[in-house]
Amino acid sequence: MDRSALDDLKNAIRTIPDYPAPGIQFRDITTLLGDARAFRRAVDELVQPFAGLKIAKIAGIEARGFILGGAVAHQLSAGFVPVRKKGKLPHETVGMPYSLEYGDDEIEVHRDAVSRGERVLLVDDLVATGGTAEAAVKLLSSLGAEVVAACFIIDLPDLGGADRVRRLGVPVRTLVSFA
Ligand code: PRP
Ligand code: ADE
Repeated sequence: MDRSALDDLKNAIRTIPDYPAPGIQFRDITTLLGDARAFRRAVDELVQPFAGLKIAKIAGIEARGFILGGAVAHQLSAGFVPVRKKGKLPHETVGMPYSLEYGDDEIEVHRDAVSRGERVLLVDDLVATGGTAEAAVKLLSSLGAEVVAACFIIDLPDLGGADRVRRLGVPVRTLVSFA
């Protein structure tokens, strides 16, 4: 994607100061999602390197990763695995606690959501500290999946999350960054 298209994507993201806690600059993708052109571009661009890589499943992280992950799964003709906040999934789960820029939480997936050796692409809107994505990679790997890559629209490079995920041996794709 050329520079001006990336700038358009970045400009479609709204920043809310001091949300959800003082000092946090919250990068709000609802404005991008509401812009048909920007939404399509973002999904097309996220998907681009992964077409033909035989991705069996997209793992989307609640909540914003569900919206993007569903669209990515459709484009790659892959299945979708919801990575949910604790207590939301009805069947047997495995879980992992983690910390993020503004708190602590725990994510879960169904124990039977992926099979051994299955090629999975992790999708979320944003990587900040990488705590959420790291927990998701570890959970999916513990079930035997091969996490082929992780992709995000937004990187907050000052928080080092993309590199944290790369250190797990998982390639990371991001489209725009806010330093
Ligand atoms: C946001 C974002 C990522 C996570 C990134 O989700 O959508 O999932 O934070 O932060 P990290 O890299 O520091 O772990 P949030 O936990 O706010 O949940 P939400 O999508 O349900 O609002
Ligand atoms: N998740 C973690 N940090 C965030 C931020 N600054 N904006 C939006 N989502 C986030």
